[in-house]
Order: sequence, then C-alpha cells, then structure tokens
Amino acid sequence: MSPGELKLPDYREQLPAVAARFERIRQRPVILTIRNLKKSFGSNGGTRVVFDHVSLDIHRREFICAVGPSGCGKSTLARIVVGLDDATGGEVLLDGKAVAGPGPDRGMVFQGYTLFPWLTVKRNVMFGLQMHGKAPSTADVEAREWLDMVGLAKFENSYPHELSGGMKQRVAIARALANNPRILIMDEPFAALDAQTRCHMQGYLMQIWKKVDVTILFITHDLDEASLLADRILVMGTNPGGVVEFIENPVPRPRSAAQLISPEFLALKKRLEEHIHPPAETETVEKLPMIKLTEAGDEVE
Ligand SMILES: Nc1ncnc2c1ncn2[C@@H]1O[C@H](COP(=O)(O)OP(=O)(O)OP(=O)(O)O)[C@@H](O)[C@H]1O
Ligand SMILES: [Mg+2]
Repeated sequence: MSPGELKLPDYREQLPAVAARFERIRQRPVILTIRNLKKSFGSNGGTRVVFDHVSLDIHRREFICAVGPSGCGKSTLARIVVGLDDATGGEVLLDGKAVAGPGPDRGMVFQGYTLFPWLTVKRNVMFGLQMHGKAPSTADVEAREWLDMVGLAKFENSYPHELSGGMKQRVAIARALANNPRILIMDEPFAALDAQTRCHMQGYLMQIWKKVDVTILFITHDLDEASLLADRILVMGTNPGGVVEFIENPVPRPRSAAQLISPEFLALKKRLEEHIHPPAETETVEKLPMIKLTEAGDEVE
C-alpha cells in the first residue's frame, strides 16, 4: 500500500486492528464535550471572531492532538477548557458538568518553563497538592511517587535551574498530574526543546499516558508529533476559524519513530499538510522590501 493509495476515510476496510481500536474508544464514556463553542475578542472598537461552531466529544483516555496555523485559536481553546478564559458562546462540559474557572480536574502544561525557581523539584510538585488541601506529609509522599513516575526521583532536591529543559517539562507533567486531573491539557509543551530531547519526551509521555488514567489534549505545530502521539487529530483553521477536520489516526499502536516512514503515517501527514499548508498559500510568499546590505558580487542564489 503506497501513501498515495491510502485514502484516510477508507482505512477501516484496510486496517481492521485500527478500526477495532476506534470502536473500543467510542465505547468509553465521553469525558469532555465542547458544544458550539465561539470565541471573539474586541479589537479597535470591532469584534474579531477567532473560532465558531466548535463541537466535539473526547472519550476517556483518548489522546487528542490539535493542530492548525498560527493564530487559529488553539491556545485560546486550551485556555477555555482549562477555565482561564471565558467563551463568547457555547459550552464546555467535563464529565457532564459545565466548566467555570480553573479546577483540579484539569491539569495544564505550557511551552514555557513554569516551575517556581525558588522551590525544589519536589516542592514544586507538592505545591499544587497542598493548595488543594493535602497535608504536607501526604503531599511529600505523593510528590515523590509522581517524580518516580516521570523518572526524576533522584532530582527531588534539585532546583529548576539545575535541570535540562526536558527534565523541567517532566517535572511540569508530574506537577500537573499530581492532582489526578481528568484531562491534561498541553500547549506546545515540547516546542522549546531540541529535536532529540523532544523525541525522548514523546516517548516518556506515551509511557506515562499508558500508566495513568488521564485523557490528553495536546497542542502542537509539529505534524510528525501529532501523527505519532494522537488517537485523533483536531485540525483547526482560520477564516472562518473553527474545526476543519477531526481525523482518526490510522497509524497502528504501539508506535515508534520507525513508523515515521510507514504508508499510513505518510498518508496522514500528507492529509495534514494539505490542510495546514495548502499549495496556494505556500506559493504566495510575501515579498520583503528591497533593502540590500550587500556589495556587488556578493550575491547568493
Ligand atoms: N487576550 C487576547 N486579546 C485579544 N486577542 C487575543 C487574545 N488572545 C488571543 N487573541 C487572538 O486570538 C487569536 C488566536 O490566538 P491563539 O493564541 O489562540 O492562537 P494559536 O492557534 O494558539 O496560535 P499559535 O500557533 O501561534 O500559538 C489570535 O489572532 C490572537 O491575536
Ligand atoms: Mg498557541
């Protein structure tokens, strides 16, 4: 089967194991429902609609990746789900209850390093636990367990500046998971990491997700990353902003970097590319002003 032959909507006939996996996912309860969500911001006296008519259901322990061009509203959607921002219309339901403000049932990991620099790794993880009423002794034990889970038990007494970028993000994941959230929302958590560390982090995240009863909404610009991690990929667009497609990922699990060249993977990536970088868009690169800081004979091709 070559990538050109794999028509994603037909994969159910071609990949029965994948079709069966999606059938099992569909039978799990819905954790997160987004219904007819709209977000607009006021600007220069007018109103700009970022997205509208966003509706979707996410099932328990599903791994959802959201992709889309810069500015289409991925982070805005994440912030609304976390409860850091209000929707203009529609609703977000977690376990059937409307989301109003942040809560321990939703964990968040951002791109930037958000650990408290003045607290040790363990105290960073303990912080959220104590905020939600855990006694220090209980928080201490649970923080150690979570650090063990992300493979950083040995670093519990280190400070964030003593850790690599990847390690900091593992602590951030431990901190977000420590409150046993129903859903973990991750907004480009690995974007600032080098390619090799990022690849390791994807592996760590897959291992953690297998061990923890948590549903993941993961935002990324990296189409390989989305194709490697996701059960389903939410493709968002602009003008009008909203859901372009919600694609069931046909790449069989368990997955590894070796599958980056499998026909399913390549077909999926092609489909995502077509949405994110339509040919018309890539051909019309904006011309920059003709200011030259070179001498004659200095030309490059
Ligand atoms: N607080 C705000 N006030 C006004 N406009 C905002 C605000 N927050 C976001 N926006 C606008 O909403 C749109 C969506 O922003 P958002 O950050 O959600 O996009 P994104 O898809 O996450 O982009 P990127 O991929 O670059 O992170 C942008 O046009 C942005 O300028
Ligand atoms: Mg963003």
